[in-house]
Amino acid sequence: MSPEIPFGQPSFSDAEIDAVARVMRSGWVGMGPETLAFESELAEFLGCPAVVTTNSCTSALHLSLLAQGVGPGDEVIVPSLTWCSTVNVVLYVGARPVFADIDPMTLGLDPDSVADVTTSRTRALIPVHFGGLGLDVSALAAVLPAGAVVVEDAAHALGARLPDGRMVGASGHPTCFSFYANKVLSTGDGGAVALTDTELAVRMRALRLHGQTHDAWQRYLHPSLALVSPQISEVGLKANYTDLQAAIGRVQLRRQDEFAATRASVARIYGQGLADLGLGLQTGWDRPEHARHLFTIQLPEQRACDRDALIATLRSQGIGASLHYQPLHTMPRYAELAQGRALAHTESVGARILTLPIGPRMQADDAWRIVQAVRQALGCPPYGGATPAGRPARDNKVS
Ligand SMILES: Cc1ncc(COP(=O)(O)O)c(C=O)c1O
Repeated sequence: MSPEIPFGQPSFSDAEIDAVARVMRSGWVGMGPETLAFESELAEFLGCPAVVTTNSCTSALHLSLLAQGVGPGDEVIVPSLTWCSTVNVVLYVGARPVFADIDPMTLGLDPDSVADVTTSRTRALIPVHFGGLGLDVSALAAVLPAGAVVVEDAAHALGARLPDGRMVGASGHPTCFSFYANKVLSTGDGGAVALTDTELAVRMRALRLHGQTHDAWQRYLHPSLALVSPQISEVGLKANYTDLQAAIGRVQLRRQDEFAATRASVARIYGQGLADLGLGLQTGWDRPEHARHLFTIQLPEQRACDRDALIATLRSQGIGASLHYQPLHTMPRYAELAQGRALAHTESVGARILTLPIGPRMQADDAWRIVQAVRQALGCPPYGGATPAGRPARDNKVS
């Protein structure tokens, strides 16, 4: 049975459908004017000079390493409490992933642990803005050796802010976003890199399309280019975005305030309805700067063994509880990369964490139902307090 309340579901309106139809009717569905418009609107939203779209966040991370020459012989520091993409891209370029531990409050990399695993071979760091909380990336960058680069994994964090108030994406480090189906901005699949280095952006534009100097839209726009083959001086990826996706993305970008408000309301209900249970909540979950792609709770140490049973119970009730993440270094392919080094916080959090559904289509009733189900599954009395806006739980509008 598929969950009745999925852990994340996009919201598409007639505006997205109309936008796709408009692009289909235009006759140009590959990468072209709509992609360029989306890139410039996203750059404005993020407060950065350039955005390069890609077919996924995984490709955006991969390209960011490739374009900066990270490769064999290099070490790249990564968290283990993340999706496999963060680590796989390091392996794609032939470098070695090195795990560092997390701060159990932010669920992002801990600068002290990063400093501990830094060596003269450290060439890059990939911090993850976990769940949508903007991490203090400058504190992490400060412990790296000269010449090492930072590539931010902001798959969860479109619309989040860094501790200094800038948008995640405006730090100056290549920052990679995901537009996968359940993300804060969804175009089914897709990704983007936000950049301040415009020369790097030019290089990444070429590398996302086989390393070609110009693409089909440029050849169409400039007939003189149509007569010359695009020149290839290095091997790139086939990792471009399309105008069909960009049409959806432009509408989704305009709806970000609406989505953020719904996510914030759902999070407030969880925060209120579960406050007395002694569950660990991520720092900043209640701050407007958090993008709230994920809402995670952590069971207390003594109840760690109940985590999988809790997920199973919620799922049996049609609630799409989920796990983000099993630490990668506990999986067969990545275990040897940890070289037997313990990642104490990662392991502790990884044993106790679970994700409750959150998304732009959720209603207040859904969130209250989940609160009561969690309480019941943990053997706690039902929540009996007033709802956030003083309305009874059955009022279905989120605010
Ligand atoms: C932390 C993190 N990084 C990278 C990715 C990869 O994103 P995509 O599916 O767009 O490649 C994901 C996907 O969920 C993710 O959660």
